Amino acid sequence: MNAQELELIDTARGLVASGKGLLAMDESNSTCNEEFAELGIAQTMDVRRAWRELIITTPRLAEYISGVILYDETIRQESREGPSFLNVLADTGITPGIKVDLGAKTQAGHPGEKVTEGLDGLRGRLQAYFQMGARFAKWRAVITIGNGLPSQGCIEANAHALARYAALCQEVGLVPIVEPEILMTGEHGIEECGKVTEQVLHAVFNQLYEQRVLLEAMILKPGMVLPGLACPKQETADQVADTTVHCLLRVVPAAVAGVAFLSGGQTGEQASARLNAMAVRFNAYGSPLPWVLTFSFARAIQRPALAIWNGDDTNKAKAQQALLHRARCNWAALRGDYDIAMEGNG
Ligand code: G3H
Repeated sequence: MNAQELELIDTARGLVASGKGLLAMDESNSTCNEEFAELGIAQTMDVRRAWRELIITTPRLAEYISGVILYDETIRQESREGPSFLNVLADTGITPGIKVDLGAKTQAGHPGEKVTEGLDGLRGRLQAYFQMGARFAKWRAVITIGNGLPSQGCIEANAHALARYAALCQEVGLVPIVEPEILMTGEHGIEECGKVTEQVLHAVFNQLYEQRVLLEAMILKPGMVLPGLACPKQETADQVADTTVHCLLRVVPAAVAGVAFLSGGQTGEQASARLNAMAVRFNAYGSPLPWVLTFSFARAIQRPALAIWNGDDTNKAKAQQALLHRARCNWAALRGDYDIAMEGNG
């Protein structure tokens, strides 16, 4: 391996094998505005900046979080006191990453399905982000279950784009986070989610191989294998842990640096409990699992804190405590030390 490949592997390991997790704060402006609107928070650039500043200046965040995923607007911003967000992160030792896809758009000829755009001009954008200081990137593909979906055409198109993106990232020195998200919406059972997850991951790793992506220097960001939100049967955390890990063992090559789950709409408590069950049942640290398991949550870490902040900086300290609490719960879950009793003293 050459020096750049070795450095990429170091970065990937530093992100996932540090016993910490990732914090996704890379909502596009429209997604961030939708979340603000739900809580009656003003949807302006300055309010988005204030929210993101609150997150990255949370005291002790670096004890639990190894890297944060930023959005194009955020990576260029400065905190109220002056230092850029990137400098604030550098001071805490948190590695900055960047979302680089341009969103999931309606896929032609595939009603109800989406394909993620953003490959045109991507090399230049990645080079610019690397120059700014980003050391990893994220691209999210979205797969829907239900009414005969997903189609093979949707799976293949998204897998191909993920692999092309990942190869470009490694070319410029960024560790790619490869995120094929199977949406939780629907009435399907956990078995169906497992079947689709396996099918999608097969296609993704086939494309990653074809595009010559170095697996040791990438992170997979899947969803947990879960029943649809509207499915009457909701499995226990232990059952989710078993189904998820057994599915991943069948399709994720051992060389992959780490698996960092998205939260996908689970509550903070659900996500922590399921992550914890995986650690307990599979002894994820120093264990027989071939890759490190960790988290890369957005909503399951941010949501309670956002509701407390509510756009008002007089609530900042309380919101930061809530954010840190969720980060700490997930950090504990990686060790199998999370307990619902922790929720009482957040
Ligand atoms: O792309 C989605 C984020 O990176 C993860 O978000 O944890 O709210 O699903 P989530």
